[in-house]
Amino acid sequence: MNPLTALIGDRERAFAAEDPMAKTCTLALADQFGQASARTLVLRGISDRGLVIFINQSSPKWRVLSAGGHYEILLWYPSIQCQYRIQGQAVELTDGEVRQSWQMRPEPGKRLDFLYHEYPQSSPILDRDLLIDAVMSRQTLVDEGQPPPAGITAFELAATIIERLDLSPDLEVHDRRLFTLVDGHWQNQVLVP
Ligand SMILES: Cc1cc2nc3c(=O)[nH]c(=O)nc-3n(C[C@H](O)[C@H](O)[C@H](O)COP(=O)(O)O)c2cc1C
Repeated sequence: MNPLTALIGDRERAFAAEDPMAKTCTLALADQFGQASARTLVLRGISDRGLVIFINQSSPKWRVLSAGGHYEILLWYPSIQCQYRIQGQAVELTDGEVRQSWQMRPEPGKRLDFLYHEYPQSSPILDRDLLIDAVMSRQTLVDEGQPPPAGITAFELAATIIERLDLSPDLEVHDRRLFTLVDGHWQNQVLVP
């Protein structure tokens, strides 16, 4: 059984149940010093290898991911009482695809992407007034239909370990499985929940 297929099905069930968590994921990273960090991100897609996220190269998470830091993705869908934990290799995607899909991004996101060149994501800024002025001044670039700025990028978080925990109330005992990709084939073990 391919756990990514199960994940796609579970996520569809979560969307159908209008689960607000269906759109997002939690990306946890460990940097080269073992420092942990976690943040919510929009989950942009699921490929046949893993999860796809779009981020900016000015951000701290890009620095960790591009330096080969370890990741774990956490997905929790309360509507269907199902959790996934996913690990593997992060692969930066080609620029062309990312730049094309950037055109679909809502305007507030586009303004921020234009901002990050001068003010990197997650960097401190003097005050909120300066931030608002700096962001809103980028609206002209959006209105002019300027091409996507440098620094937008995406990662495919190719999965080699996937754990699924099913807490459905109709199960007598919670169902927890560990899937491991070995020589291109998914193997699975039952875990004590
Ligand atoms: C619901 C939700 C969705 C988010 N989606 C994104 C996203 O797709 N990309 C992004 O860079 N930050 C997103 N954020 C903000 C991140 O959680 C985080 O604050 C930001 O990316 C900076 O993270 P970093 O300093 O670890 O790089 C989202 C936050 C929330 C609450």
